[in-house]
Amino acid sequence: MSGYVGAEHEFHDPEFVRGWANRFVPTQPRLQLFDLILGQIEQVCKPNAHVLELGTGPGYMARHILERNKLVSYEALDFSDAFINVAKQTIGDLTPRVVFTNADLIAQDWPDKLSRKPDAIISTWALHDLGGQQAVANVYGRCHEVLPDGGLLANGDFIKPDGTSWDYEPGRFEIARHLELLREAGFAEPRSLAHLEPNIENPTSAQNYACLVAVR
Ligand SMILES: C[S@@+](CC[C@H](N)C(=O)[O-])C[C@H]1O[C@@H](n2cnc3c(N)ncnc32)[C@H](O)[C@@H]1O
Repeated sequence: MSGYVGAEHEFHDPEFVRGWANRFVPTQPRLQLFDLILGQIEQVCKPNAHVLELGTGPGYMARHILERNKLVSYEALDFSDAFINVAKQTIGDLTPRVVFTNADLIAQDWPDKLSRKPDAIISTWALHDLGGQQAVANVYGRCHEVLPDGGLLANGDFIKPDGTSWDYEPGRFEIARHLELLREAGFAEPRSLAHLEPNIENPTSAQNYACLVAVR
């Protein structure tokens, strides 16, 4: 079988955003990705780490992490006010520990908009939406510049699985290529911790994502 894997979004349309948030309440494998990333933060960073999330969306990962780790502070970056409004509702009572930042990851100056330097930069299901490998490479480069030595980058995102005969949108590409781009950005030993919801033969656009981690 073959076909095309990709998705269209209206990130600035409040109605689309509300519908998207309702459809993608995290399932068990998605929660597994959040736990992998939380484990990395706790293993690699200091206890009161400042965590920056790129593309916070409805705030599901933010809430998951803030509920389970009472010490970290959080910066939630997104370019959609509609998603930021939903994230504020999701994060609810934990909002005082979060700074919300509206910035576009395509613009190379997004690090200038941060409230402070992060100890960890994390992201889930967002960077593939930047449109292709060069845009992801640019974000990896800015992350390397902004992180301190020993800082963590963890990107859980849709990938194109090895061995597929399907076409994928350009933002979804192979794990090996992500690792190459991370090395080119300056990260010494990037790794993939997991390939979640793998489906080579008959994939949907919600399957096949990896947990890519690198320490500066
Ligand atoms: C799938 S959502 C992220 C889900 C989120 N990680 C969670 O756990 O709830 C992807 C987000 O990336 C944001 N995004 C897409 N392109 C962006 C860009 N160029 N700059 C900043 N944010 C962007 C979208 O607005 C959307 O909120």
